Amino acid sequence: MRVELRSARGGALRLLCCCLLFVVWSAGARELPATPPAAAVASAHPLATAAGREILDAGGNAFDAAIAVAATLAVVEPYSSGIGGGGFFLLHRAADGFNVMIDARETAPGAAHRDMYLDDSGDIAAGRSMNGALAAGIPGLPAGIAHLAAHYGTLPLKTTLAPAIRHARDGFEVTAHYSMMAGFRTDAMNADPETARIFLREGAAPALGTRLAQPDLAVTLERMAADGKAGFYTGATAEQLVAGVRAGGGLWELSDLARYTVVEREPVIGSYRGIRVISAPPPSSGGIVLIEALNILEGYDYASLAPTPRAHLTIEAMRRAYRDRAEFLGDPDFTDVPVARLTAKSHAQAIAADLLADRATPSSALKPIAPPPQGDHTTHFSVLDAAGNRVAATLSVNFPFGCAFTPPGTGVLLNNEMDDFSSKAMTPNGYGLVGVDANAIAPFKRPLSSMTPTFLETPERIGILGTPGGSRIISMVLLGTLSYADGRPPSDWVATPRYHHQYLPDEVLYEPKAFDATARADLERRGHTLKLSNREYGNMHAILWDRAHGEVSAASDPRGEGTALVWQPAAVGAAVK
Ligand code: GLY
Repeated sequence: MRVELRSARGGALRLLCCCLLFVVWSAGARELPATPPAAAVASAHPLATAAGREILDAGGNAFDAAIAVAATLAVVEPYSSGIGGGGFFLLHRAADGFNVMIDARETAPGAAHRDMYLDDSGDIAAGRSMNGALAAGIPGLPAGIAHLAAHYGTLPLKTTLAPAIRHARDGFEVTAHYSMMAGFRTDAMNADPETARIFLREGAAPALGTRLAQPDLAVTLERMAADGKAGFYTGATAEQLVAGVRAGGGLWELSDLARYTVVEREPVIGSYRGIRVISAPPPSSGGIVLIEALNILEGYDYASLAPTPRAHLTIEAMRRAYRDRAEFLGDPDFTDVPVARLTAKSHAQAIAADLLADRATPSSALKPIAPPPQGDHTTHFSVLDAAGNRVAATLSVNFPFGCAFTPPGTGVLLNNEMDDFSSKAMTPNGYGLVGVDANAIAPFKRPLSSMTPTFLETPERIGILGTPGGSRIISMVLLGTLSYADGRPPSDWVATPRYHHQYLPDEVLYEPKAFDATARADLERRGHTLKLSNREYGNMHAILWDRAHGEVSAASDPRGEGTALVWQPAAVGAAVK
């Protein structure tokens, strides 16, 4: 049969089939609308979602709205992201179908060195990469915002930063989540008087409903509104930042700030059962690990499996994909990341060759990663405008309230993203993740991330999703993607009970609702070590444009305080660039 198809007659037959398929497809495609019937914003805080709506209603596009949402989150959710941190903006421009990821990840300062977090005996010095000025990378979010405004938005920063400046100046009400996060980081925050002054009250987490204003941050944001990138990376703000960091024991130089630049990166693209998966490339590990896991699962008749065999296969896929993360992934400007090889279907077949349907593979049985001879917190939001432009943005300061250090006078709480490097080969970082040379510290290098802003596409259904959650981000986006693949709505993607395996430690972390007693017994019988998470985790915000039914729906994770809005902007049509 195959041979016949290669014959001339077969060629003609194939051509005819292709033409017929094209006619059927284009007839179907013609019925699908080119633009969504509504706009949508889903983010982790009601004030940030409202800021996105305000900008879309003022005639801005999705990229303008993303600036407003990101900057507002920086003010009202300082434990998750901020202009002292960084992140990734995955963009889709409707006019020409262009997809790009704006890499606004922090970089190591120029004086950083491989062993900077080791003590005299060569062990990791506890807390050094986590708390205080030495833990902070050079921020990327201000440059990301300025880049979005200069190249993709339609409105001036004066307009798009206005909601954030308003909330910084007038204050916002402390929520239960804020109090919980501040409670978690009180000791580190009290070690820096400026951080304690701004974000705590009498050395403790502020009570629910406390009004928290940040006038210094308002001034810093106003400088950005007036001068864009230069308003942060040069001049008065830069001088205050560097003076504060150096007085706090950090290594920053003015030149580290002046040379910071975002990078436009081509997203990684994969496929899963007819779904096009567009996601974050290195220096995020997110897209590659997600696509590797999906490629492994594609080899099974996943849809017809019962929940526990599904969970077993998914855990085994996570285990193998996260193993590759530990060995191969790092900043692509410093290390060769074999993206094409890792995301190839053949690689998934190879690393799943020893996968047993009824037995866990111990992580120690996978190909070992040789150490070289020498040497919840984060946030995600999704935006769709009425022209079909999309943003999936995941932003971070790493741990809650970052490194808990604020250079005096700036209001800029700094990140502790340096802990995302592998400070010592195969030694776990704050998220228990291990790595080797590919993610070792080097001057100006970007630490490997797990942030996974993602678009999912079929002709009928366009999905936008992502979540915070450290190393668990990728497994959450994987479970959300599988829920999308099952035809479920965004409210299910964000709510689905979660479980996670990251190669090492060799255990399955699970939310209480993920597995009932029968499922737990079944998984343990297959050889999995289960560990109940002491709380639910993640905070996913997602949007679906269902082109077949002409509907937009959005959802915020029920575990968080966020909101999702779908509405018809007042200025539809103005939102097109
Ligand atoms: N800071 C968390 C991450 O980038 O993965």
